[in-house]
Amino acid sequence: MSEFIPVLTQKEIAKRVVEVADAISTDYRDRDLILIGILKGAFVFLADLIRHISIPVKVDFMCASSYGRSTSSSGRVKIIKDVDLDLKNKDVVIVEDIVDTGITLTHLVAHLKSSGAASVRICALIDKQERRQTEIVADYVCHSVEKGFLVGYGLDYAEFHRNLPEVYHLKL
Ligand code: PRP
Repeated sequence: MSEFIPVLTQKEIAKRVVEVADAISTDYRDRDLILIGILKGAFVFLADLIRHISIPVKVDFMCASSYGRSTSSSGRVKIIKDVDLDLKNKDVVIVEDIVDTGITLTHLVAHLKSSGAASVRICALIDKQERRQTEIVADYVCHSVEKGFLVGYGLDYAEFHRNLPEVYHLKL
């Protein structure tokens, strides 16, 4: 029987989403900001975050996958969908649900920089250090979580549980 151990409540998530959106709105005032959500996991976080951003902003999406149906990263990042907008001289903030090993973001930051973005920063709902394998550091972090395989609020296990409004540690 799998067990769902509560990690973040709806209230805890919502409070930090507002705070981080405020920080981004302040930092990017008078800049040319594009938020890039990484599908699929970031769609819930991005949808909430963007509604609290108070400056002009464009949105785009990339789809990258390194986990497939497994709970451990394959180490290979596949870009399934690239951005559509022109990133030349634009300030980009990548919006991710989780930084785990860091492999996905390391790959995506390099990719976006090579696409001509003026700057690339990272905004993550969850920063989980337990399995970190790269030097990547997120610029905006809503929550640091020590360990566990996390699901809910966009995060999945084998494509399920993204719809949960809270975040849980799934014990299989
Ligand atoms: C998850 C998550 C991040 C990545 C983080 O994506 O959404 O993109 O893993 O892990 P890492 O730091 O170890 O690279 P996944 O590949 O599971 O696809 P999904 O977003 O469609 O769930």
